[in-house]
Parts: sequence; C-alpha cells; structure tokens
Amino acid sequence: MRTIPPLRIQELEAKIPIIQGGMGVGISLSSLAGAVAKTGAIGVISAAEIGMIYEDEFMKNPQATDRKALRDEIIRAKDIANGGIVGVNIMVAMSEFFELCEVAIDSGTDIIFAGAGLPLGIPYEKMRKSKTKFGVIVSSARATTLIFRYWDRHYKDIPDIVVVEGPKAGGHLGFKLEQINDPNFALERITPPVIEAVKPFERKYSKDVPVVAAGGIYTGEDIYYFMNEIGVNGIQMATRFVAAHECDADIKFKEAYIKAREEDVVIIKSPVGMPGRAIRNKFLEDVEEGKKQPFKCLWQCLKGCDYKHAPYCITQALVNAQKGRFGGGFAFAGANVYRVDKIVSVQELIDELVRGYIEASEANY
Ligand SMILES: Cc1cc2nc3c(=O)[nH]c(=O)nc-3n(C[C@H](O)[C@H](O)[C@H](O)COP(=O)(O)O)c2cc1C
Repeated sequence: MRTIPPLRIQELEAKIPIIQGGMGVGISLSSLAGAVAKTGAIGVISAAEIGMIYEDEFMKNPQATDRKALRDEIIRAKDIANGGIVGVNIMVAMSEFFELCEVAIDSGTDIIFAGAGLPLGIPYEKMRKSKTKFGVIVSSARATTLIFRYWDRHYKDIPDIVVVEGPKAGGHLGFKLEQINDPNFALERITPPVIEAVKPFERKYSKDVPVVAAGGIYTGEDIYYFMNEIGVNGIQMATRFVAAHECDADIKFKEAYIKAREEDVVIIKSPVGMPGRAIRNKFLEDVEEGKKQPFKCLWQCLKGCDYKHAPYCITQALVNAQKGRFGGGFAFAGANVYRVDKIVSVQELIDELVRGYIEASEANY
C-alpha cells in the first residue's frame, strides 16, 4: 500500500507533508489552523493584525491587543489540534515582528514561519531555549543564502525549514511585476537552486533542513510532482484552505473564491510597495481609477507602508474583506482561485490531496 511520506522538521514530524500557509488578515486563525493540524498536516495562524478579533480593544491599543490575541489563538488552535503541529506566520515587514515572535514562543507554538522580508534579527536565544522551530519563506536562492549566511555568522546556527514561495501564490508577492509571468521565475525553476543553496549549510551543521514549495499547488498530483520531480520534502498551500468550512473568514469571502473566474484574478500594487494577487472587484476598480479611500492610520503596522500617500489602508481593506464587507475591501487569492468550486471540510480536502498523491505515485510506478 503506497502512502505519502511525512515531513520532518528536526524532532517534529507531520504525517501529512502539507503546510497550510498563513493567511492574514484573520483568514487563518485557530479554527482553520487547529483543524489542519488535527489531520496530521501543519496548521498555521497568521499574526497579521490578529488583534482585530477583539475589534473594540484593538482600536484603543492595537499592539497590546495583537499580542493578547496571538496568545489566545495559539492556545485555542493547540486545543483543537489534539497534539498536531500548530505554527504561526509572522511577517518580517510587521512593525512588531520581534515582539510577536516572543509571544509565539512563550505561547508554545511549534514553529514560526517568517516571510515578507529577511528574518535576520530574531529572538534567537529565547527560541532555541524553547521547543519552537523557525522557518523562513523566500522567493529566491539569493535571499536563502543571505539569510543562512547571516544566521551562520551571528547565531552559529541555521533555520529549521525553508518555504520557497513562487509567483502563483496569493497575497503579497516577493517578485517584481515583470517577473510574475516570466517562466524563469516559475516555482519549478526557482526551487532547485534554493535546495542547492541550503546544502552547504546542512553539511556544515550536520542538520537536515527540509525545503517546501508553495504557490499554485492545487492537486495531489501537483504535490507528487513537486516532491518527486523537483525534490522538495513537502508543500505549502493556502488558496484551497479558504474554501474550507473551518476557515476563519466570513462566508462571503469564501463565496468570492467560488465565484471568481480566471479573468477576475489580478495583480495589484499594494500600498506597502509590493505586488499582490487579488480578486478584482468594485473597490479595486475605484482604486485603479484614482479614487482615494480616505482613512486614519491607527498606527504604522507595516514597516514599509507609506501611509501618508497610500490611496487606502491595506490592513483595513483586508479586515473588511475578511468580515465580508467588500464595499470597503478586496480578497487576496492565489492564481488558481478560479478552480475552487465548493466548500468542503479540511479533512475532506486533505483526504482528496492524499488520494491524488497516491494515485499519481501508482501511475508513475
Ligand atoms: C488570502 C491570503 C492571504 C495570505 N496572507 C499571507 C500572509 O499574511 N503572510 C504570508 O507569508 N503569506 C500569506 N499568503 C501566502 C500563503 O501563505 C501561501 O504561501 C500561498 O498563497 C500559497 O499559494 P496558493 O495559495 O496557490 O496555495 C496569503 C495567501 C492568501 C491566499
């Protein structure tokens, strides 16, 4: 009987080698992450503006509320997970990156995934004294080498796992506009050099560092391809988990995924200066026409945000969408969102993916 191989991250072992990618703002919280972890895959809470789950308190004290909410959500997810692996996605671009890493470690998260910037300054001592592992999300071999060299010099250590995120991912993208559709930057092209970049450091530290691919992976067959032809140890996916009953977004957000057609998937220039992939709607059309959405910045939550000149507040727009208020926001989504046609349970989705993997492995025998 063929099976799907597990994903090992040091002493952690996920029996299903799938990581549910962190989705801010409020899309992947304890309900989704806990349900995914319970199946034996890895569930991930996004820390981005997580304080919004306590909206009134957040308006008065955003930073303290973010920390409280992150702590509470980790505890809730671990409770649902029944011993499964619960991670947290914390963007380096967040003004409170360092402090939220500390909260995540203190709250017993199994692993931190850090992307949207280079995770160089981290609470390293605290992390290594705990059982929390540290993963980095990159979009190139160059960024991988930069991070690993820095850790090697400053911490005499290396990260525990690498997620390579390609240009078909949802949300903010680590690529220039012209690279997004360039085949040289396709996930299957950028991943092998990352695997190579990690190898000398693995040898130096006698440590296995799994590499995982993300962005546009949709079926069990895709998972088989990436694990067996490209050589990754697992995969990360996000878009498909939005259409799960357990996903923390409003039902209108999930319906926007089901309704989306291929031509509705667009690349936007986010106010934080990076391109992002989203589902076109009236809000985005207004922005494109130069109509500004006036807002008051509560505090500069993202380091690179030019909030004085931004046409709208990206955080507020994403919070509105998460709550189903599309008049004031829009949904981020991966390139394959138009293929989503129904809402299923997390367990049904995982079963379908594992079945697809096994069928592909039998067909390729
Ligand atoms: C709605 C949405 C929100 C996302 N938010 C984040 C985020 O806050 N931080 C992050 O590192 N990645 C974020 N991502 C990227 C995912 O974690 C994941 O790596 C990527 O979408 C995988 O591609 P797929 O959606 O095609 O499976 C987001 C993706 C989506 C669809």
